[in-house]
Formats: sequence, C-alpha cells, structure tokens
Amino acid sequence: MNLSQKKILLGLTGGIAAYKVADLCRQLVKAGAEVKVVMTKGAKAFITPLTMQALSGNPVHDDLLDPSAETAMGHIELAKWPDLIVIAPASADFIARATAGMADDLLATLCVATAKPIALVPAMNQQMWANQATQANIKTAAKRSFHIWGPASGDQACGDVGFGRMIEPLEIAQKVDAFFNHKPLKSQHWVITAGPTVEKIDPVRYLTNRSSGKMGYAIAQAAANLGAKVTLVSGPVSLDSPNGVERVMVQSAQDMLQAVESATENSDVFVACAAVSDYRAKNVAEQKMKKQGDDGLSIELEQNPDILQWVASNRDCFAVGFAAETQNLIDYAQTKMERKGIQMICANDVSRADIGFGSDHNELTVFYRAEQELETYKLGPKLKTELAQDLVELVNTIRK
Ligand code: C5P
Repeated sequence: MNLSQKKILLGLTGGIAAYKVADLCRQLVKAGAEVKVVMTKGAKAFITPLTMQALSGNPVHDDLLDPSAETAMGHIELAKWPDLIVIAPASADFIARATAGMADDLLATLCVATAKPIALVPAMNQQMWANQATQANIKTAAKRSFHIWGPASGDQACGDVGFGRMIEPLEIAQKVDAFFNHKPLKSQHWVITAGPTVEKIDPVRYLTNRSSGKMGYAIAQAAANLGAKVTLVSGPVSLDSPNGVERVMVQSAQDMLQAVESATENSDVFVACAAVSDYRAKNVAEQKMKKQGDDGLSIELEQNPDILQWVASNRDCFAVGFAAETQNLIDYAQTKMERKGIQMICANDVSRADIGFGSDHNELTVFYRAEQELETYKLGPKLKTELAQDLVELVNTIRK
C-alpha cells in the first residue's frame, strides 16, 4: 500500500463503527497519506476528537461556524484540499443529508462544496440499510458518482444479522489504495452487453424479459474503475450510463449483435451479461394486431442470433457468458459453455428473490475451463457493485 503524497479527508459520522475508523486513520497515515479528520456531532458521541487528532497528526475539524477554524482554514479551503474524501462510518442520516445536498454541518457542507471524489462507507442496522428511503438515497448517491464501499453482511453490534456492517478498516484502506494505484486494466478494451432485448410484434407490442441491467452495468463500472476502456452495449433499462464508459443503446438482439460486431473488433474481453431474447416474431405486423376471437392467436417466432457464440467464434477476445437458470444450475451452465465455445461462464439462480433479476445483490458460481480441468469459483452473495469488482479481477487474473 503506497499513499505517499495523497491527501485524504476522513469524515466520521455517528455510529458504533466509528471506533474502527481510528484504526483506518492509523493505516492511512502508515501508508504515507496526509489525513485530516472532520467529525459530526454524532461521531463525537462515539469517539473523541483527541483520539483522531493524535492518530492523524492534524487538528480535527468539527464546527461549521467556529470562528477560529474559519480564519485558519475555511470550509471552502478544506473542501479543495483533499484528493479523496472518505466518509466512514456513513450513517443513514448522513447519507440522507448528503444526497439531499444539505449543508447543515461542516461535513455535509464539505460534500456540497467539494469537486473532489467522495467515498461513502455505510454502517447501520440492517433494517435501516434495507429501508426504502436509505436505498433510494444510496442509488441517488451512486448516480451522482459517490463511491459506495460496502456495507458487509454479518453480525451487528445491536444483535441483528444482515447487510449494514461497515466493511473492515483494512478493506477500506485497500479500497483507498486501489482508488489511487490499482489500474490493472489500463490499455485493455472491455465490451459488455447488459439488460434485456426488445423484439417487436407489432407497433405497440413486444417480447422482452425482466432483466434490469444492474449486473452488466456494475461490471462496466468496475472495469472502467480499474482503468479499462469500456463499451457497454445495452438494451432498454432505466439506469444511467456508468462513469467513464461509452454506452451504445440498442433494442433488438439483431441490433445488439450489430453493435457488438463493431465494438469487439479490437477488444480484449467480452462479457455477455444481457438477457437476449432467444426468439423474435418472424413477421412484425405493420399495424396493431386485432383480436382473433376464441381460437387464440399464434405468432410465429424465429430464432435470434447467439451473440456470445458469434464473438467466441469470430473474435480473438476472452469471452465470458452468464447462465441465468431456475434449476440444474451447474449442469446447464457447463453444457452452455461447451455449446457456445467459451472458457468461462457465471451461473446464477434467478429463481431466488434475494438475488438475480432486479435485486441489488447477486451470487455467482463461475466455471472456468483451464486446459483439461474445470475450475470453480464462488463469488458473493454480495451487492452487485461489489461482486462485479470481484468478477472483473477474477477475469483479469485468469486471462494472464
Ligand atoms: O443460451 P442462453 O440464453 O441461456 O445463454 C446465456 C448467455 O448467452 C448469456 O451470457 C447471454 O448474454 C448470451 N446470449 C447471447 N445471445 C443470445 C442468447 C444468449 O449473447 N441470443
């Protein structure tokens, strides 16, 4: 870990995990970073400013309206100072205030006043994390390019078990290090498909599926964060384009294939995360179709091209597939890998409500065919954003 010359503003808010941030501060300083600490009123109820001052080697800032602090270093100067702002623990209340753009204490004001990257490290009771308001706030924060690190799942100080635990200080320090130093995909081009496809039946009806695009978008963001040039070929979804990613929007499987053909010309990795419709209407009606009466209605379907298979046989890049299954996960995934001629497939069980379609969480079993042997890796259950990072790292390690 090398953080020399890096300026980190560490913000603490009220939560029992605040005591762990003393260790985080020590680790950042040990890695060479200059650390300045800002504490909210709530944070000071859990850990003293003196502790953080001693560990950071700098006076702690805690008051927006402190005349002496304002003359020594106003909040605007403080907002301009860091290379990165890390807020740990980030309480539900603070996340709500930060996403609402409130400026009612020093730390919240800094978030509004800064143009520097901000990482939120959530820590709260599992019910508070699961609360719809908190989830909506986290989504807003992610859209506004806040980095969200964690939370982890496990035992909580209050006795509950679930998502909401702050990730450990070492993991936070590693994420800070990775933020500055870890760009292993630099000079690689990744092409990723995501979301559903839409196949027209007539001018108002279509065939599609429930894919939200979240997993593919998270993979695109993770690859871009690690330095890759990323082209995301996406079916219609309600997600914003990830930062630093070129997004190509498509409708049908045929459109998707066309976009993939041109995007993969010089690509290194292709990840097929889209839920591509297997079939399309053979004849798309020019006018809205009318009711056919009691005899029912038949629509003739024809098969769509298999985009992943096309890439595997026509391009020289490392192709990764997904197998969303509701049963026989392992058997189906392995058969699919052979049929499509790919070396790696990520299987997930979409019959489970807690992971898969629409969920923010996922669990993957990754199969990789190395020479004669089949290797298996279990990833998650985790937030799709975290899982995506693990998967991107795994693909990169295996390719080497
Ligand atoms: O054959 P199946 O749809 O189950 O395979 C799933 C995998 O193949 C996914 O990676 C999906 O993105 C990809 N696929 C594709 N083109 C299709 C169908 C699936 O790229 N027409």
